[in-house]
Amino acid sequence: MSQMVDLVIFGGTGDLSTRKLLPALYQLHRDKLADRLQRIIATGRGAMDTAQFLLEAQKNLQRFLPADDWDDAVWDSFRERLHYVQLDANQPQHYAELAALLDQGETTSRLFYLATLPSLYGDICQQLKAAGAVNDACRVVLEKPLGHDLASCRTINEQVAAVFDEEATFRIDHYLGKETVQNLLALRFGNPLFHPMWNNTFINSVQITVAEEIGVAGRGSYYADTGALRDMVQNHLLQVLSLVAMEPPSSLKATDIRDEKMKVLRCLEPITLGNVKERTVRGRYAAGAVSGKAVKGFLEEDAFHDALNTETFVALKVGINNWRWAGVPFYLRTGKRLSRRYSEIVIEYRRQPFSLFANDPQELTNKLVIHLQPEESISLHTVNKKPGLTNKLRLKPVELHLTDDSQEKHSSYDAYERLLLDALHGDQTLFMRRDEVETAWHWIDSIIAAWDENGTPIKSYNAGTMGPNAATALVAVDGRSWHE
Ligand code: BG6
Repeated sequence: MSQMVDLVIFGGTGDLSTRKLLPALYQLHRDKLADRLQRIIATGRGAMDTAQFLLEAQKNLQRFLPADDWDDAVWDSFRERLHYVQLDANQPQHYAELAALLDQGETTSRLFYLATLPSLYGDICQQLKAAGAVNDACRVVLEKPLGHDLASCRTINEQVAAVFDEEATFRIDHYLGKETVQNLLALRFGNPLFHPMWNNTFINSVQITVAEEIGVAGRGSYYADTGALRDMVQNHLLQVLSLVAMEPPSSLKATDIRDEKMKVLRCLEPITLGNVKERTVRGRYAAGAVSGKAVKGFLEEDAFHDALNTETFVALKVGINNWRWAGVPFYLRTGKRLSRRYSEIVIEYRRQPFSLFANDPQELTNKLVIHLQPEESISLHTVNKKPGLTNKLRLKPVELHLTDDSQEKHSSYDAYERLLLDALHGDQTLFMRRDEVETAWHWIDSIIAAWDENGTPIKSYNAGTMGPNAATALVAVDGRSWHE
């Protein structure tokens, strides 16, 4: 697909399109990076014309673009690309109208971006095909969540595969589009310094935290039926874990990287009834205060009164059963309404076999701390001599910052700019392959079955804290603490 492409967004007036896709497309347009892109056709159920859609789009862009990014001149040229088509996913006539509009363009390549309810993905693909809108040069992008469990994920994948080949299917995990997540590859495989020590001989444990301040108000039935394990761990945290744990790929080609990630997912130690108690913690936020603002508890939100079996926090102790990682726990945690928004990976190295110094406390352990957001940075926690004329050598912590200043240049880009560009160019490296998503669901399903069988309770935590006390205990029994 080296020719020009029309992008069609299903769910074009929805939350994702409004907050992420249109701002990302505006920025690509402004920076003249979307040279392959011709028209952007937003579809939605609402009855409006393109002029009305443009008014809405302008308002939303002014609201959701990073501060100072709005520019009247950029908008004037960007709006030329935007079109709106009313489309009810079940109405064949609407697809015929869309197909007619696509045929009027100069392009034959199309990128269909599905950001609707995933249960509609199969039908949308079928209808597009029936309307004659799909040809060999078309691709499809699928937003998460891809199903609710392995069975529903397989159904969606089957239905999509009936219309689009795997090479034409781009499953989004927007964490893979984050700059620092990609930088993991450079850090691990570009630095001989780290490579020999990236294993269980030198690494004691790994922590991956994705903490959010936001709650789930406004996400009604989706979140009530989902919870933190399915919403965040099945995709984002497992993808990050795979990149941290995978073997060096034989090249940076999509297939080679995805093959290595797949091997990690296959080695995840199952969490079942036998170990679920010591391996998992579920939590749910009660009322509290986040950044000084009082917030309601999850069950106090109108949409969630009955969502008694939905967790908003989860912490896991995960094992990877292979030669590199045997015996190294990977502690994962993620939650809503936590004390602050940050995501980080912490690689904790083993301690010296014997200490020579007058002080050598636990907090002086060497760590590599990779911050994904809100700031992107990498720091290596090492020790130095504590300065002074004492007769005993004492240690003090010193942080080496490995962050490249020029990264800041890119910081106004969110993950979607990169992912949209890659989908336009047909590069699947940062997208999930079918077997990855299904293997991840298989592992998650076992945890959910164990929770159900075991009756795992959901522990309360106050909004504005870092989760329930049980999460602290999960690592404390191993003599560890969460990196704060
Ligand atoms: C989405 C989840 O995939 O990721 C949301 O559905 C979550 O619940 C979001 O808030 C977090 O993304 P980010 O990029 O803000 O960390």
